[in-house]
Amino acid sequence: MPAAATTLPEEDLLFRLLRQLDLAPEASQRATAQALDISLGRLNALLRAVTDAGLVRLSDRDSADRRSRVAYALTARGAAEKARLTDRFLARKLAEYDALHAELTGTGSGLPSLKTRTLMMQNHLAPIPELYVSADSAQKLKREAADLVSWDLTPRQTCDLELLMNGGFNPLKGFLGKDDYESVVETMRLADGALWPMPITLDVSEDFAGKVEPGQDIALRDAEGVILAILSISDKYIPNKAREALMVYGADDVAHPAVNYLHHVAGPVYLGGAITGIQQPVHYDFRARRDTPNELRAYFRKLGWRKIVAFQTRNPLHRAHQELTFRAAKEAQANLLIHPVVGMTKPGDVDHFTRVRCYEAVLDKYPSATTTMSLLNLAMRMAGPREAVWHGLIRKNHGCTHFIVGRDHAGPGKNSQGVDFYGPYDAQVLFKTHEAEIGLEMVDFKHMVYVQEKAQYYPANEVPEGDTILDISGTELRRRLREGLDIPEWFSFPEVVKELRRTSPPRSQQGFTVFFTGLSGSGKSTIANAMMVKLMEQGGRPVTLLDGDVVRKHLSSELGFSKEHRDINIRRIGYVASEITKNGGIAICAPIAPYTATRRAVREMIEAFGAFIEVHVATSLEECERRDRKGLYKLAREGKIKEFTGISDPYEAPTAAELVVDTEGMDVDYCAQQVLLKLESMGLIAA
Ligand code: PPS
Repeated sequence: MPAAATTLPEEDLLFRLLRQLDLAPEASQRATAQALDISLGRLNALLRAVTDAGLVRLSDRDSADRRSRVAYALTARGAAEKARLTDRFLARKLAEYDALHAELTGTGSGLPSLKTRTLMMQNHLAPIPELYVSADSAQKLKREAADLVSWDLTPRQTCDLELLMNGGFNPLKGFLGKDDYESVVETMRLADGALWPMPITLDVSEDFAGKVEPGQDIALRDAEGVILAILSISDKYIPNKAREALMVYGADDVAHPAVNYLHHVAGPVYLGGAITGIQQPVHYDFRARRDTPNELRAYFRKLGWRKIVAFQTRNPLHRAHQELTFRAAKEAQANLLIHPVVGMTKPGDVDHFTRVRCYEAVLDKYPSATTTMSLLNLAMRMAGPREAVWHGLIRKNHGCTHFIVGRDHAGPGKNSQGVDFYGPYDAQVLFKTHEAEIGLEMVDFKHMVYVQEKAQYYPANEVPEGDTILDISGTELRRRLREGLDIPEWFSFPEVVKELRRTSPPRSQQGFTVFFTGLSGSGKSTIANAMMVKLMEQGGRPVTLLDGDVVRKHLSSELGFSKEHRDINIRRIGYVASEITKNGGIAICAPIAPYTATRRAVREMIEAFGAFIEVHVATSLEECERRDRKGLYKLAREGKIKEFTGISDPYEAPTAAELVVDTEGMDVDYCAQQVLLKLESMGLIAA
């Protein structure tokens, strides 16, 4: 290939060419040349250069005309280059404008700096850059992507991808490469210095990582196999997860849900690179309430809203929240955007279906001319202060000008020492430090409490002296719901309480899972069987027993006892139990389940729908071996059974089980009674 043919055109022309090919990939060469105002010969040379550079490729055109059967279309790499050039083009044009203004007025620009002005424009006027290609290009890329190696996105990655593609994570252009990742972890900034506190990474398995290399394009598919985007891999790297946990979440402690996710759910290798968006993930629920950043911007423009204060939430709204948002809007003299997260929140939160029904009920209590609500498909990390800054940047991208940061913003609760991960107002402090750069003003609030004498809500620090404070914590609210107790009018709205009661009936009517764990021969199955009969005798809810041996016969017959296989086995049990729990039944599980992390994963799966009661059947190894009911310990000692729990494979005893029973010297009936009493004390069965 002659050198001249591979030299890329200057940036401006390259940008216009890529843009034109994206807009009209089916157009004839003559039409493309006309649109770019260049000769056919020049266009041909350009097309050769961009094809050699892998930005454009030849494709078939649906045309009856034999002479024009080929067309040129953008590759994923070309689309990513186009996105990069768009930003550069805009920046250059703004700089030219600055210089021209200075020349004409003779005053120097006199305008706010270019960066500030871009921020201001993005806040309200200019559409924000998205990573999608045009509909025509998307069709073509989708066909082409069918042949690429593909990665099935996890639910969290799907949420991240959606916000990458629609500009919610602007200025990111894809999943973070190594330099950006390390810089974000260490300094809360991208490698180019832009503020960005959260590592947005594509974690994959070692197996998958072995199949791909930097320079390669891969297709990203949702859970149903639909291709949403192409990732042009630029980096493949192994993260230091302990460091990431420490720097981003403040501690390498798996009591933090995101740290637990990092160590026990996320894959060991990260892929980084530019994203070419093909289509947005499909949502079947609450469609009318979901808006991209550009849709919200357009809405604000249409209504003439200039100042907008956003309220982030992952909980149902009660009266305290309403008061807080009213005050915030008044203080900022702004319109109000209620912007709840419906992607992923903290495990155990009220599900988003229930919450949205609650929000809709509360929305009626707001003045419709000044308030709106939109759902945000964000996967939260519960990173407290860093998360607040991240939330601010996301809201800025959605066209807001103000952001409410209250007490313990995005707090994950307590660490494994029982101490809060973050101080109650740490998020406000960090946000304030970066306020100018975020480009959003913080409206900070202390905890809101109800003052009985005034029959009104006040921030905790403004309560008139001597007055009586009433407050109901989240834990207390859950207890009242669980036990069917009164929830006073001053606390919440009747419509919200009704909705919550509908999805959280009293515990005695909810599904739950009893999860026995212990060594082989510890007596798990025997107690579980006795329990099942006793619960069936009581009646009311269907009871299912998922015994270790029975599961291995019917659900996991192909699995052995390696760590990997045991994990799959336990997760299957967890999945079935979570479905039973969700549908109001009682699941009794009795596997060995020797690993802490897997038991925790099962707990999280189930606690999304009901109670999880872990019962450690703590019969000693000596006693189990002495009983050796199946003769397996003898074989294990002789080395005839490999990886035998307690002998040649570990058993990690639970440290915080709801109940510990020891079968030595106790009869089965007594042990089963202990479990029943526990269930009774938790309100799960009628006393
Ligand atoms: S696990 O670890 O939770 O997946 O195990 P589980 O499904 O409960 O299966 C345990 C039963 O399988 C028999 N068995 C073994 N157990 C442990 N280690 C090894 N290598 C092994 N090989 C076979 C054993 O009888 C277990 O039954 P229980 O009911 O626990 O006695």
